[in-house]
Amino acid sequence: MLTASSAPSAQAREAMELLNAEASKLNIWLRTQANAPAQPPWFRDTRVEARGQIAAGRVGAAQVKPLPHLWQWRQISPYLDRIAEIARGADVSPIEFAERQQFLLTNPGLGGRLQVTSTIRCAVSIYNPGDVAPVHIHSPNASRTILSEGGGYTTIDGERCRAARGDLILTPNGTWHDHGNDGTEPVIWIDVLDFPLMEFLDCVWLDEAFPGQTQGNSPAQPVTRGPCYSHRLYGQGGLAPRFVPHQRGFGLGTTPMFHYRGADIREALDGLRREDGDPYEGIALRFVNPTTGASLFPTLDYGAQLLRAGEATRFKRETASTLYIVIAGEGATEVGGQRFDWRANDIFVVPSFAWRRHISENAGDAVLYSVSDIPLLDKIGQYRAQGRLPDDTVAELAP
Ligand SMILES: [Fe+2]
Repeated sequence: MLTASSAPSAQAREAMELLNAEASKLNIWLRTQANAPAQPPWFRDTRVEARGQIAAGRVGAAQVKPLPHLWQWRQISPYLDRIAEIARGADVSPIEFAERQQFLLTNPGLGGRLQVTSTIRCAVSIYNPGDVAPVHIHSPNASRTILSEGGGYTTIDGERCRAARGDLILTPNGTWHDHGNDGTEPVIWIDVLDFPLMEFLDCVWLDEAFPGQTQGNSPAQPVTRGPCYSHRLYGQGGLAPRFVPHQRGFGLGTTPMFHYRGADIREALDGLRREDGDPYEGIALRFVNPTTGASLFPTLDYGAQLLRAGEATRFKRETASTLYIVIAGEGATEVGGQRFDWRANDIFVVPSFAWRRHISENAGDAVLYSVSDIPLLDKIGQYRAQGRLPDDTVAELAP
């Protein structure tokens, strides 16, 4: 412990900082302060309004921390039309000048990196009629949440999933997949990947050399499964087929169910609306691997929740981070003392350690989809959650 006499004087610290500026050219950093972690100790009850900024002090100049943030659909969506317009007028196929017609969301706290949290990447994609993304395979786990009413497909492991609004379509790591739009209207969806985590672990790989015959101008895998294959195999809760292996592709610990329909998700939520629900989440459902009950991916947990008209949840915080997509309704989420008003198609992120609660408008229900890195935090023995009780005391929710 530092005593008054051993504490560095301001003058000495200033001299060290100057020396640091010079030394940085050699890619070294002279320690001037104790490491400044991004988070306060978990067991200290941080105030609801704490903004989740990096603690005082620093560890090198490049230390970053995700911030809570809302991307409003009315602000970002015009860029999709502009991308699509350029693609329509181009003299080469879009795939030749931009691998995808999409934009990626960047968290303002992460210095321009292509990620919304430490583990999650999020992109918004548009596919014009006739657009095709060639068949490929990679190590990151990915999903798309469909915003358009209809149109577009993703083929995964020989199963063609036809998309509609609110659908969740999964491309687990190690599965061959391709996308396209064979309809007459542009199709828009939101891609979510654990790419930043894989990148951090130096575990990203991708391959486009599909083994076997591909079809069409832009290589697509042949459709080898019947329509609604995932749904026919696993679509009845509590029943799993005995005559197929539940391993698809060569990813490990991933779900064999690739397609959850928006209409089914909404029906399930509505069917539970008269239950009490969870005081911190409302009527919340978890997407699970139907054969194990585990998360869909080893890294990411997916959820859907109904907030009934006028419902306000209690404050909760977790050591995991969560990305939300607003599927229906209007409302607000308070995170670390900031209020984010949202409506359909908006996307927002709640970083780890920040207190948050959701409030839906009095006028109607709201539906949020979420993706968190809870399974990852859980596996490394770091998942914790707390909730605030009505008397403002704090309850341990997990572990
Ligand atoms: Fe992909």
